[in-house]
Amino acid sequence: MKNKDSYGHVRGESLFVDDITVMQGTLHGLVFDASIAHGRIKNIDYSKAENLEGVVRIFTHLDIPGENQIGGIIQDEPLFAENEIHFMGQPIAFIVAESLAIAKKAKSLIEIEVANLPIITKAKEAFEKGLFTNAPRTFKKADVNEGFKKADYIFEGEAFTNGQEHLYLETQASYAYPLENGTIKIISSTQGPTAVQKTIANVLGVAMHSVELEVVRLGGGFGGKEDQATAWAAMTAVAVYHLHVPVKLVLERHDDIRMTGKRHPYHTFYKIGLNKDLKIIAFEADYLQNSGAAADLSPAIAERTLFHGTNSYYIENVRMTVHSCKTNLPPNTAFRGFGGPQGMFVIEAAIAKAAQELNIPAYKIQEANLLQEDDEFSYGQIAKNVLIQKVWNSAKTTFNFDKKSKEIDAFNAKNTALKKGISLMPITFGISFTNTPMNHARALVHIYQDGSVGVSTGAVEMGQSVNTKMLQVAAQSFGISSQNVKIETTNTTRVANTSPTAASTGADLNGKAVQLACTNLVDRLQRVAQEVLELENKSSISFYENYVYVNKKKTSLTWHKLVSEAFIRRVSLSENAHYATPEIHFDKKKEKGHPFAYHVYGTAITTVTLDCIRGTYEFDSVEIIHDFGKSMNLGIDIGQVEGALVQGLGWVTMEEIVYDDKGILRSNSLSGYKVPDVFAVPKIIKTIPFVSDGDDLAILKSKAVGEPPFMYAIGGYFALQNAIAAFNPRYNRKLDAPMTPEKTLLALYGE
Ligand code: MTE
Ligand code: HPA
Ligand code: MOS
Repeated sequence: MKNKDSYGHVRGESLFVDDITVMQGTLHGLVFDASIAHGRIKNIDYSKAENLEGVVRIFTHLDIPGENQIGGIIQDEPLFAENEIHFMGQPIAFIVAESLAIAKKAKSLIEIEVANLPIITKAKEAFEKGLFTNAPRTFKKADVNEGFKKADYIFEGEAFTNGQEHLYLETQASYAYPLENGTIKIISSTQGPTAVQKTIANVLGVAMHSVELEVVRLGGGFGGKEDQATAWAAMTAVAVYHLHVPVKLVLERHDDIRMTGKRHPYHTFYKIGLNKDLKIIAFEADYLQNSGAAADLSPAIAERTLFHGTNSYYIENVRMTVHSCKTNLPPNTAFRGFGGPQGMFVIEAAIAKAAQELNIPAYKIQEANLLQEDDEFSYGQIAKNVLIQKVWNSAKTTFNFDKKSKEIDAFNAKNTALKKGISLMPITFGISFTNTPMNHARALVHIYQDGSVGVSTGAVEMGQSVNTKMLQVAAQSFGISSQNVKIETTNTTRVANTSPTAASTGADLNGKAVQLACTNLVDRLQRVAQEVLELENKSSISFYENYVYVNKKKTSLTWHKLVSEAFIRRVSLSENAHYATPEIHFDKKKEKGHPFAYHVYGTAITTVTLDCIRGTYEFDSVEIIHDFGKSMNLGIDIGQVEGALVQGLGWVTMEEIVYDDKGILRSNSLSGYKVPDVFAVPKIIKTIPFVSDGDDLAILKSKAVGEPPFMYAIGGYFALQNAIAAFNPRYNRKLDAPMTPEKTLLALYGE
């Protein structure tokens, strides 16, 4: 089955926030934001702007009826700056006018005076000054100092990864309007409708039932709308609260790029100890996470860095500490992988460094340390149904790794202007929100009396096709064709208290809830069928292809007829179900537990050709063996792998976020910030499913797929490093992503 949305998308019929037909009297909002990164506000004069014809009102922190606070995990982030500015792009006021053009004119008339304060943009500087958004976290296993004592080789170094702009096609957006009795309805482009609802209730000082959140779909989120859709929705809600008319805010691209947080840059100090047979016996890391000016999701992202700090390897002695460093950048936030990629990059960098020093290929170290059944992760979970060795071996044989390596050596021996590189990248990614209490979901299923079905869940469609998967679950449970099922919008009045659609858990959590609701309805309908068909019991009854079957034989009773019979018999055709992931737990005091329902495994082999005169490169192939479990939709799932891979390659190669020393974003448009285009996509991307038993905690045994494949791209970085080293034997690997062509050129001719 194709993604349900594909026709609508291609024909331009799908609705995003900016496509909603606005109501009469709708006003337009624009954010007045800080143009410096740190300072004290001395004076703001709004009078000229306010007097402009068509300006209705300018809202500041003084207009907030409840609390001027939007911090999710830690309450450290005001909606509007009060006395101090902490980052460039920080919202100060919200201009509401009859048109966007008038609001823009008004913005240029606001006069602000500030006293500059010192600006910190680098995590290391904040670390040295003791500036943090949160306390450090440490995962420890056995005794790392004892481990290093036993090591034959010890290597130390630093690794850097930069941020990444989400670049969802639909920018942040909200449309809010008044309902009766003080209720406000907000249509928002958010991954977390409940988080937005709760925050708005707090900002307005009203109950959550007075705030209704509705999400149709997002033009991409990638984590950028897990926590950061809130501010814009809250601003429109504040305006509606005071003005009682509809207010719309859609960020223009430049504003979105400037004002929103990105993937966290990390600066990490690592130490790795190996023994003679290449076993990693000790690993130590201090991750300096650049949080930006407020915590946002940094504490949870920091935690996931630790969970994935050892990637797919069993390491006996470990000590990893993450420090969330407070800087004057926009608060950084969730981005596909959620700190996992930053953690995995470091262990791969440490292995690359060790391989270089020992003058062996990195894959020998990787291979010697892959996880085995019943190995213990640094966080205490015992690895079960481990597939990493299998997918690794399968990738090596299926894609002829040994032969490819030899061919590349031969190519490199013959050529000087061009060099090739190859790498292997194993991934092991934990599925579940690392914060156990977030792992639950609900679904509301209605069967209408004509047999058609409406399904509401807490899942948000953002291009990952979760709605198509929900539809498949319902259609399959009822044995009816997919045209009979409609997936409704995500709305907090139908499905309440939702976790954001994130952590790759959307399909698992919501799908399990849909399945439960459907199972209960099937049970009721079987009873009806038993009566209608005058059977002894209901155990022989099943539903298939829009008909009732008895003992696997088709009867003349159709689904539609059965449903109408049930309605006449006054049987409820609606069901609400709740699912909470069993088995998982985590003790944050001990930093031990069993946080993940299961793990997803895979291995990618990447080859690259480097132009050693220009520093430019092309990825020839990325060949992947990926553990989908029993995929319920291979077309969608392979799409997720390919999209994540290319997005990841952008992160490690070409996407370069640049803030200057004043904290001003220089890479503030798509002319300066280069994302992968069709020419940057690897010439061959091959994804071969590793068909496994799946996992009972995955929906229909189809493992979660949204984030894990992002990390295959890290292999691209190291393939490129190998190509550079083939040209420049003096090259001392910097392990500083992204490896832009400029940096590559310097590396080719430097030390
Ligand atoms: N795919 C598309 N097309 N657009 C997106 O915004 N977000 C990714 C991934 N795939 C995203 C996507 C992220 S960050 C996550 S966590 C998952 O989808 C969320 O959806 P799921 O839980 O339903 O997999
Ligand atoms: N992943 C993604 N988003 C989250 C998580 C997580 O583990 N925890 C809280 N939000
Ligand atoms: Mo994804 S970063 O968990 O939204």
